[in-house]
Amino acid sequence: MTIDPRLQSHLPSPVLQGKTLWIGGAWRAAAAGETIETFDPSTGKVLAELARGRKADAEAAASAAREGAARWTALSGAERGHVLRRIAEAVRARAESFGLLDTVDSGRPISTTGGPSVAHAAALFDYYAGLADKIHGATVPMGPDATALVEREPCGVIAAISPWNYPLENAVTKIAPILACGNAMILKPAEQTSLSALLLAQIAHDAGLPAGVLNVVTGLGAEAGAALVEHPLVDKVSFTGSTATGRRIAALAGEHLKGVVLELGGKSPLIVFGDADLKGAAEAAVFSTFMNNGQTCTSCNRVLVAAEARESFARHCREAAAKLRVGDPLDPATQIGPLVSARQLQRVEQYMDGLADERLDIPGYLPLEGGYFRKPAIVTTFDHESRFAREEIFGPVMAIRSFGDDDEAYRLANDTEYGLAASVWTTSLAQAEQARRRLQVGIVWINCVHALSPGTPVSGHKASGLGIEYGLEAVEQYMRVKTTVTMHGGWRSPFA
Ligand code: NAI
Ligand code: MG
Repeated sequence: MTIDPRLQSHLPSPVLQGKTLWIGGAWRAAAAGETIETFDPSTGKVLAELARGRKADAEAAASAAREGAARWTALSGAERGHVLRRIAEAVRARAESFGLLDTVDSGRPISTTGGPSVAHAAALFDYYAGLADKIHGATVPMGPDATALVEREPCGVIAAISPWNYPLENAVTKIAPILACGNAMILKPAEQTSLSALLLAQIAHDAGLPAGVLNVVTGLGAEAGAALVEHPLVDKVSFTGSTATGRRIAALAGEHLKGVVLELGGKSPLIVFGDADLKGAAEAAVFSTFMNNGQTCTSCNRVLVAAEARESFARHCREAAAKLRVGDPLDPATQIGPLVSARQLQRVEQYMDGLADERLDIPGYLPLEGGYFRKPAIVTTFDHESRFAREEIFGPVMAIRSFGDDDEAYRLANDTEYGLAASVWTTSLAQAEQARRRLQVGIVWINCVHALSPGTPVSGHKASGLGIEYGLEAVEQYMRVKTTVTMHGGWRSPFA
C-alpha cells in the first residue's frame, strides 16, 4: 500500500491501510477490494490509496444511514445542536491536520487551508448548530372547529457529492445543514481530494455523532456517486460540481423522483464602471481570478470594463498580478499552488489553444518539478463566441472586455447560460442599485468580492444551480412538510 509518510500522524490508522469507507461508525475496505490513488498535485506523486466504492458499498452505506437517521432523530434538536458545536470545536483543534491534508491532496496553499478554511468550516458547524433547536412548524387558522398543524420533518437520508476545489469547506457546507435538520447522510467526496473528509468523519464520531449519521464512501463519481443517487434508501441528493455532471445527476434522480440540490458552475462577471476605484477593482479582479487558480465556482474572471477605463484598469491588473507568489503550496508565503490534477491543467490548456500567449511576467512564479502549475494569464483579445469566452474554464485566466454604456454592460454580464455571482465596482449609489436589479445572478458583490458568511444564502440562477447553500434558506431544502388537520366538532360528509 503506497502511503506518503507526511500523512501518517494526521489520519486514522485504518485509513492509512486503504480502509477509507466510513460506514456505520467503522472503517472498511471496498467490498470488491479495489482501490484508486490520490495524488499530490504539486509533484504529481501518489499520496495514498482510497477504497474504490461501488454499488455494494453504496448499499451498505445507505442501510447504515437509515439506522443512523433513527438514532439521530431520537435526539432533541438541542442535543443535535450540542453535537454539532462539539464537532466545530474538534475541527478547530485539528486545524493543522486539515491544513496539511487539503494542501497536499488538492494543491491549495497552506496559507489558505489551515487557518481560513478551518475557521470557515467550524463557523458553518456553529451556525447550523444554533439552528438545530429552532426548527419548528406553524399552525394555519381554519376557523373555530379545526386545527391545522404544519410540521417540518427531516427528509431522511441524503447523499452529498462534493467537488475537489475546496474539499473541507464544500463538504461541511452540505454536512452542517443536512445534519442540523435531523437527516443522516452519505458523503461521496471528490476522488482527487478525499482525505480531509476522512479525518472529519473520525473526529465527528469522536465528538459524539452517533454511528451511521455521517457515512463516507470514497470512489469515482460514475461508480460510487451514481450508485448513491440511484439507491432506493437515499431520499434526496445534494451535489456541488460541474453543470454537466449536475445535469446527469438531476436526470438520474428524476427517474427515481428524488429531489436535488445542485450548486454548479459559473462564468461570473466583474463589472468596472468608469467612476470606480480602478486600483481596488483591479486588485479584486486579480484576487477573484487567480485565487485557487480560478478553481472557484464564484470566480469573477469575466471582466467587463468601461471603455474609457480599460487601459488604466488593465495596467493596474498586471501590476497587482506581478506581485503574486506561485509555487510550493506548503510554503506559508505561497498564494497560489498547482492546479488540482493533470486533467484539469490539460482542460485549461485546451481553452487557451489558439489564443495569443498572454502569460504574465511574475517574478514570484516558482513552480515545483512535476507539479500541475500554470502561469497566470490576462487575455484581452479573443473571440466573444468562443468556448474560451463562454464556458467555465476553472483555471488562472482573466478575460477583459470593454463596454460602451450601462445597457451594454448589463447585457454582456447577463449574456451567459450561468447566473451564479457578479462583482460590481462603482462609486455611484444609483449604479449599485441598478446592478442589484439588473443582474441575473444569485449573489451580487458591490465594491467587494467573495464576501460571504454562513448566514448569506447563495442560490445559483440559470445553469448555475437548483437550490441554496448557506443561510437559513439552506435547511428548508433538507426537510419536508407534513400537515395534520384535526376537526373538533365532528366532520360532516358533503354527501350526507
Ligand atoms: P465533476 O462535477 O464531474 O465532479 C464533482 C463531483 O461529482 C466529484 O465528487 C465526482 O466524483 C462526482 N461525479 C462525477 N460524475 C458523477 C456521476 N455521473 N454521478 C455522480 N457523481 C459524479 O467535476 P470534474 O470533472 O472533476 O471537473 C470538471 C469541471 O467541473 C471543472 O473544470 C469546473 O469547470 C467544474 N467544477 C465546478 C465546481 C464548482 O464548484 N461549481 C467544482 C468542481 C468542478
Ligand atoms: Mg489528491
